[in-house]
Formats: sequence, structure tokens, C-alpha cells
Amino acid sequence: MNEHAGPPLRLGLIGCSPIARRRMLPAIGLVDTVRLSGVAAREVERAKEIAAELGTVASGYEEILERDDVDAVYISLPNGLHCEWAGNALRAGKHVLCEKPLATTREDALELTELAARNGLVLRENFSFEHHSQHTKVRQLLAEGRFGTPRTFTASFCIPPLPPDDTRYNAALGGGALLDIGVYPLRAAQLFLGPDLTVAGATLRVDERLSVDLAGQVLLVSADSVFATLEFGIQHSYGSRYSLWGSSASVTLDRAFTPPPSRLPVLRIDEQDHAEEIVLPPSDQFRNSLEAFVGAATGPVADNDVERPWRDAAVATAGLIDEIRKRAVCVGVRDEGES
Ligand SMILES: NC(=O)c1ccc[n+]([C@@H]2O[C@H](COP(=O)([O-])OP(=O)(O)OC[C@H]3O[C@@H](n4cnc5c(N)ncnc54)[C@H](OP(=O)(O)O)[C@@H]3O)[C@@H](O)[C@H]2O)c1
Repeated sequence: MNEHAGPPLRLGLIGCSPIARRRMLPAIGLVDTVRLSGVAAREVERAKEIAAELGTVASGYEEILERDDVDAVYISLPNGLHCEWAGNALRAGKHVLCEKPLATTREDALELTELAARNGLVLRENFSFEHHSQHTKVRQLLAEGRFGTPRTFTASFCIPPLPPDDTRYNAALGGGALLDIGVYPLRAAQLFLGPDLTVAGATLRVDERLSVDLAGQVLLVSADSVFATLEFGIQHSYGSRYSLWGSSASVTLDRAFTPPPSRLPVLRIDEQDHAEEIVLPPSDQFRNSLEAFVGAATGPVADNDVERPWRDAAVATAGLIDEIRKRAVCVGVRDEGES
């Protein structure tokens, strides 16, 4: 719970995206330390329609950043536009909650995080899954030695094909499965195996006509010699899970990355002569992520010790993306996207 006693954080939306409508707006309604103070869309008429529906103020992207009554912005633009608008927002003095991934290269992520640190602003990447209590439980069991010495981590996140005009099929907007979906298992590997990860190999299935990747696999090695195998794609049936396998037990979690807030998560633990399921309470990861951001943005200004791990994690994820692109064996396919 945020113990902030001052006025609510005045949050503006940059982009009236499906995820903003489906998850962020309901979350804003649940957190009393934040207030929606405007929506910005590319087209003013659309912004006006949405603002009227939500009882707030309509703007364009640039205009909302000029408003003195907006303290922070939530950016949910196509992946290739995050860096530009997060940078614009930070330069305008706004705290930023940016959808994942923060940037498409390590260099850009580093520049943004340094800008935030210099300006004393909070910059968080909205990997909302990290804020679900199911992973806190796994980390607690791991720290207690419940699984013995970790040996392998496997994680998958795949979704069915998207509508043909979806931004994920547009290379100029930062399309592709790696940036949109692959970043989840990558971030999960960082969470459980630590930040020091080496890319040992990767594959990408690339639609040659669209120049975007539709699926891929990644092999990582951690600083403690734990191996990770990750897979992702936007041409599969839905699946979202991980498994951490240690010397004495393994734990498996289904619906790992985007569980609905009402879901009761089930951790399955398997040992030589024993299997066990732990049912956990539901958790609203979007609300938790927003609450954490608001707490940081309304607390002692951009406390470096609190913010540094979030910034470092964003830079590390972008660094892994760079490495995967460099090392991946790319398999060209035709007309498999947009189906
Ligand atoms: N954290 C999560 O659980 C989660 C889940 C899903 C998606 N996401 C992230 O959220 C972001 C938005 O994804 P989404 O699927 O909701 O929306 P999207 O289809 O990627 O579009 C986002 C918004 O970007 C704006 N936009 C600006 N330039 C555009 C252009 N040239 N073409 C199309 N749209 C443009 C549009 O808003 P206006 O017209 O209003 O300006 C649009 O609604 C992505 O970064 C994605 O990675 C996060």
C-alpha cells in the first residue's frame, strides 16, 4: 500500500491504445493516489471523443507534455515509438511509466535512463508481470533453497496471429515478436537468474516481406552457470509459462505473464517422490505496477537507490535484445505473418 498523503499524481495518457483501455484505465480507477488528468491521441477528434467518455481533457501528444497540471505520463504507443516519447516526456519534466520495451536498443535505453536520473524523474518500464505476487513466491522459495541449486530455467510466451494491420507487423513501428513478446521470458530470466546473462545462441523466424520476426528461441547462460531456454512467437496457440528446475525440485507456473487479476495462480512443485500444488491468492499486476510507479513518483524525488535497479533492468533487457539480433540464426519465411 502506498502511504503517500499528498495530492494524487496527475497522470496523462499518451496513446489511447487497447492496453490503456483494457488494463490501465481500470487500474487508475482502483488507485486513489493517482488521477487521470488527460488523454492524448494522434487525432484530436479521437482524443476529444475519448476524453468526453472518460470525463477528462483531450490533447495531442506534444500538447499534453506542455500542461502544468500533468505530473506524469503513461506511454502505450507502438514499441518503436517508446524511446522518442519517453525522451520528450522526460525533457518536459514528467515522470514516465512506459510500456515495455522501454527502447529497442541498449544505447537508447541507457540514454533514457541517464536522462531520467539527471532530471530527478521516475522512469519505469511497465513490465507489469514483475509486480504479480506469484513471482515473489517463486523467488522466496528459490531463496529458501526449496528447489536445491538452480540448473535450468525455461520460459515460453506465444500468442496467436494478430489482425493484419496490427503494429507488430510494421517494421517501421518496431514490430516483431522479439520486442513485443520475447521480452517477457527475457525479463523473467533476469528476475530469476540475475542481470549478468550471456546470449549463447538464438533463432528468429523472419517474415521476409514484412521484415519482422514472428517467432524465436534464445539460449542464455547466467553468471552462476544456470542455463535458460526461452521461446516466443506471434503465430502459435496461446501459452505463457515458465519452469525453474533445480538439483532437488522443479517449479512450474502457467499463465505466468498475463494472468487476469481474478486468477488463483497455481505453483506446481515436482520432486523425486513428491508433487505438490500451491494455490496462491489473486493479484492485479497492472494495479500493482501502477501503484509502485505512483509511490515512486510521489515519494522522495526519484530516489536513486530505489530507481537504479529498475533502470538497470531496462538497460539489461535492451542489451539482450541487441545481442540476440546480432547472434540469431534468422530463418526467412514468406507470408506467415498477418494470417
Ligand atoms: N504490459 C502489458 O501487459 C502489455 C500488454 C499489451 C501491450 N503492451 C504494450 O502496450 C503498447 C501498446 O500496445 P497495444 O497493442 O495496446 O496498442 P498498439 O496497437 O501498439 O497501438 C498503440 C497506440 O499507439 C498510437 N499510435 C501512434 N502512432 C501510431 C501508428 N503509426 N500506428 C498505429 N498506432 C499508433 C495509437 O494511439 P492514438 O491513435 O490514440 O494516438 C494506438 O492506439 C505496446 O508497447 C505493447 O508492447 C503491454
